[in-house]
Amino acid sequence: MTPLVVSPGRALQGVLRVPGDKSISHRGAIIGAIAHGTTRVSGFLQADDCRSTLRCLRAAGVPIDERVDEIEVRGRPLQEPEEVLDVGNSGTTIRLLAGVLAGHPFHSVLTGDASIRRRPMDRIADPLRRMGARVSGRQGGRLAPLAIDGGRLSGIDYATPVASAQVKSAVLLAGLFAAGPTSVREPAQSRDHTERMLGVFGAAVERDGLTTRLRGPVALRAAQVRVPGDFSSAAYFIVAASLVPGSRVEIRDVGLNPTRTGLLDILTMMGARVEVADLREEGGEPVGTVAVRATPLHGAVIGGDLVPRAIDELPVLAVAACLAEGETVIRDAAELRVKESDRVEALARELGRLGARVEPRPDGMVIAGGRPLRGGRVTSGGDHRIAMSLAVAGLCAGGSVTVDDPGNIETSFPGFAEALRRATGG
Ligand code: S3P
Repeated sequence: MTPLVVSPGRALQGVLRVPGDKSISHRGAIIGAIAHGTTRVSGFLQADDCRSTLRCLRAAGVPIDERVDEIEVRGRPLQEPEEVLDVGNSGTTIRLLAGVLAGHPFHSVLTGDASIRRRPMDRIADPLRRMGARVSGRQGGRLAPLAIDGGRLSGIDYATPVASAQVKSAVLLAGLFAAGPTSVREPAQSRDHTERMLGVFGAAVERDGLTTRLRGPVALRAAQVRVPGDFSSAAYFIVAASLVPGSRVEIRDVGLNPTRTGLLDILTMMGARVEVADLREEGGEPVGTVAVRATPLHGAVIGGDLVPRAIDELPVLAVAACLAEGETVIRDAAELRVKESDRVEALARELGRLGARVEPRPDGMVIAGGRPLRGGRVTSGGDHRIAMSLAVAGLCAGGSVTVDDPGNIETSFPGFAEALRRATGG
């Protein structure tokens, strides 16, 4: 794969739009597959991760038609797949589908690429077992491949030890097929797209603080889903435009669900000039415009409830922190170590190659800001968010930055390099 080469210095300008939200695209396909009738998902993200979800659903007998940026899913009871379901690099696919499959009276096996096979699956296997499914995997069910024998579930009250939308969603999706109430209590609010979408598909979902509850079994009805632009993809442009002097951009039609927009709060704390406009609700999700202008930033302490609201944006925030004046501390973010890669180690190592001082901590990192970045050669380590964050670093470095192994960007943001080129007028 050709490396991605980013040269510094050019300001970002103009009006941009980003591809569809990955989390909402997965959910539109999965929830559509188990609802009665035909669901249309417009603005569906045609990226590797979401294609993995479609491939797995088809293998379980779900007919799906694909058009340019829309899919049509004909919901039906899933069938026992003849083959092993391969989720590729997608954590959302394996964990949410495990929840759905736990509700079906057949045998299925889920696996994925090397990164997926390293990531913790006990966080979903444990509650699904408590609901009555048989779930086994490597290392006592901790690692994929996972084998699931589902059906005949009972609802549970589950207090999850991690603030994870994937865990919450797996349990709630299984709860749709279970007898009686299922509730999930989380230690901090994680993204709530599943709860919102289940409501649109006719489920009665109650929310009380950090607890979400539904009563199974639930018969879902097909719905129309409109997918907004992915805030996590917009994040690279928001941070880049904050950092590169002279930049001024507007990102339109982007999802602004408050469980996802911690980055805006953190950047504001760091002195950035970010504004939200044209805020409206579409299909149960807040959508609007983010306008950003470059301005000098200062360091911040990032922890607590902000972390799950910005979990996927912490890598690009680390780049902002390198260039901000003073120190930035990221804490309560041990989850960063179990993403597509160990993002704490990846950021410390790769930003270090560009002259940054990033000290890894068990639950985050300490970044000494105000040191200029230099050009150099870095690697994504196969992680899309590390690749795109390093590309943003390249816009702000003293020389060009070559990012090796950028192919994984296709998992979430097809056309990223081209979008960056256009925004910088290059
Ligand atoms: C996602 C939830 C988050 C996030 C991931 C997508 C989702 O993971 O990091 O990229 O679509 O539910 P956790 O739920 O494990 O925190």
